[in-house]
Amino acid sequence: MKTKMNTTEKMFAERVNHVPQSFIREILKVASNPAITSFAGGLPNPAFFPVKELEQCATQVFQQQGMQALQYTATEGYYPLREFISHRYRQRYGIDIPPEQILITNGSQQALDLIGKIFINPGDQVLMERPTYLGALQCLSMFQPKFQEVTLNADDVDDLEEQLWSNAIKLFYCIPNFQNPTGIRYSAEVREQAMQVLNRYNTIVVEDDPYGDIFFDEEELMPLYSYAPEKTILLGSFSKSIAPGLRLGWMVASEEIIRKATIMKQASDLHSGNLTQHILYRFLTAYSLDAHIKKIQDTYRFQRDTMMSCLKQYFPSTIEYTHPQGGMFAWVTLPEEITARELLDKAIEQNIIFVPGDAFYASDPDTQTLRLNYSNVEEAVMRKAMNTLGGMVAGLVEV
Ligand SMILES: Cc1ncc(COP(=O)(O)O)c(C=O)c1O
Repeated sequence: MKTKMNTTEKMFAERVNHVPQSFIREILKVASNPAITSFAGGLPNPAFFPVKELEQCATQVFQQQGMQALQYTATEGYYPLREFISHRYRQRYGIDIPPEQILITNGSQQALDLIGKIFINPGDQVLMERPTYLGALQCLSMFQPKFQEVTLNADDVDDLEEQLWSNAIKLFYCIPNFQNPTGIRYSAEVREQAMQVLNRYNTIVVEDDPYGDIFFDEEELMPLYSYAPEKTILLGSFSKSIAPGLRLGWMVASEEIIRKATIMKQASDLHSGNLTQHILYRFLTAYSLDAHIKKIQDTYRFQRDTMMSCLKQYFPSTIEYTHPQGGMFAWVTLPEEITARELLDKAIEQNIIFVPGDAFYASDPDTQTLRLNYSNVEEAVMRKAMNTLGGMVAGLVEV
């Protein structure tokens, strides 16, 4: 009898081999142990999920719009929700984005996938910040680009200019507000200069902005999109301002790009959850989003302050760290004698976890760096664990 059997491993598509596994997911498996203090996750603080309010909104949707909300719907998303997002950009930044230029997605993560599908051919050069969001590296790797890296710098655009000049960069992916993993925000000058430089090249800018709402000072900086709307794709998300389990975000772009992204989304999943879009829209119209975000800002600011004071008080002065003005993360660079993985091995023994920074580089990882999440750790627990961690760093430096 003839057979043509292969092992399953040989059957997988080539692209599967290009996607790095998320080390964070591996660490988060450990984090489910309640004895662990986790600075590892990127989780928003669940105390701010508006559980009761969303429950009420869900009841109203079922009572008043049940059949409509449970039906298939337009790929672009629920029109009133797109109008709400459009209105918010006008109110907040004075920029005019018609709802037709907004596509509702399953979180901003799906928008990254759609962007990869419509723009990246194998071998295309994609410029990433160094370090950058691991989920973007994972998602875009699928399309087999050649990653280039630009040093993330809040002060000047020299390296950006150099990278664009030396390489034919098709797409630049950046997180200008309170970046994941570093917490860094581009200054107003850097925004303007970066867009002046980018405007001289055939490069699409992907501005990923899931943290823009979570700012700790009053300084509102204009999105990169506002400097060059025709070449910028701006991504937003309700994950950090309301709840990530909703899986709702959006993409803002020219109508031409939105048309292509819509076709790709249709092929992937037809549309984002119609029911959740209805429930979310009710919430956004029945309650004040700004008042809700203010509560998150106040708590995260306090948690940031606590973490900063711990880094100063408990760690050797030879470490370096960022001072985030928003978002959920601080970024630490250890003295040369220790790598973050060595520290993690010791920390796990004391039930403390964080993410070593090497996971966040497209190439040539810096093994001295690590990411600390402060949004999901309560003050007393944070102080205790940071004290222990600081003592470990001091001990390792002395050896
Ligand atoms: C920079 C960045 N982009 C995108 C995402 C994905 O967010 P969403 O829940 O909107 O898919 C995250 C999540 O942590 C993120 O940090």
